[in-house]
Amino acid sequence: MKAMLCKANGPIESLVLEDFELPPPGEGEVRVRVRCAGVNFPDILITEGKYQFKPEHPFPPGSECAGDVISVGPGVTDFKSGDRVIALTGHGAFAEEVNARSIKCLHLPDDISYELGSAFVLTYGTSAYALMQMGKLAWGEWLLVHGAAGGVGLSAVEIGKAMGARVIGTGSSDEKLAVVTDHGADHVINYTDGPFKDYVKEICGGAGADVIYDPVGGDVFDESLRCINWDGRLLVIGFTSDRIPKAPANLVLLKNCSIVGVFWGAWTERHPDLHRKNMDIMFQWLREEKLRPNISHHFPLEEVPAALNVLVERKVVGKAVITVD
Ligand SMILES: NC(=O)c1ccc[n+]([C@@H]2O[C@H](COP(=O)([O-])OP(=O)(O)OC[C@H]3O[C@@H](n4cnc5c(N)ncnc54)[C@H](OP(=O)(O)O)[C@@H]3O)[C@@H](O)[C@H]2O)c1
Repeated sequence: MKAMLCKANGPIESLVLEDFELPPPGEGEVRVRVRCAGVNFPDILITEGKYQFKPEHPFPPGSECAGDVISVGPGVTDFKSGDRVIALTGHGAFAEEVNARSIKCLHLPDDISYELGSAFVLTYGTSAYALMQMGKLAWGEWLLVHGAAGGVGLSAVEIGKAMGARVIGTGSSDEKLAVVTDHGADHVINYTDGPFKDYVKEICGGAGADVIYDPVGGDVFDESLRCINWDGRLLVIGFTSDRIPKAPANLVLLKNCSIVGVFWGAWTERHPDLHRKNMDIMFQWLREEKLRPNISHHFPLEEVPAALNVLVERKVVGKAVITVD
């Protein structure tokens, strides 16, 4: 089978499409014929060797996909050959086939396409966990979402609105922010125009945001601590700015606020039942059109480097998807 291989950590242009021999599915694994794979920022980090997990080379990146189960390994009881499935793979999904741990798979509902299924669970799952369990976002609170046009960002905007919050989205271009407004944000701020903290406070009636969702880090994180409300929760999601910030503890004390780490992937393994419950809610909200995932780019398997590059160039609004023929 063909796979887009990372043979040594390096730039995304070093990925190559080659034949790759996959072992039979092991204990607790299912073999998935990949139909579509979602593209996520961690796919770049894992290729460059900057991610917390460093697979043995060669490996295909690709952290999530939707497809069909074609065989199952020993001990798998909840999936069988022929099932439509969504798989969180960590890596391996930029390929014609992948072995996925069944504990990281969900049945793909019949009314949801492979394309949508491949571009939904990682982002909406992360934001559901971040806002519901970790941020404890309450009805009527102010939610500030940074990088709001990105994969996790746009999902946080929609989930925040569905939970009854008032949502402010930030981003780097007015075109991207127009989509954020279309997906429900009450206010948007182009953070390349200058500091955002005073504008956020003004929008929130002087107090600041109750919950801040931050996949960007760096300067954006630093400024967020200056526009968070008393009792606020600053959710640490990621560091696309490429700088891991350090928090001044005096500001955390003065604001009586919490800085909350969110490691969704690890949580899904510790609490698979709660993860499934969250995703049942997300699928229900999808059917009720409270959630409207945006897929701005499509690529074939041989163009994975180009797909990752549109993320690097900050052109994606919502998600990019790889289609595997
Ligand atoms: N904590 C978790 O469990 C978890 C789960 C999933 C993902 N993540 C993390 O969340 C982050 C976002 O992932 P994603 O897949 O949503 O990425 P994405 O679709 O590329 O969105 C990231 C956004 O970050 C903004 N950004 C700011 N500076 C950037 C830069 N220098 N380069 C690229 N983008 C920049 C961009 O928005 P503007 O151009 O509008 O600024 C972009 O839309 C990543 O760090 C990822 O590792 C964490």
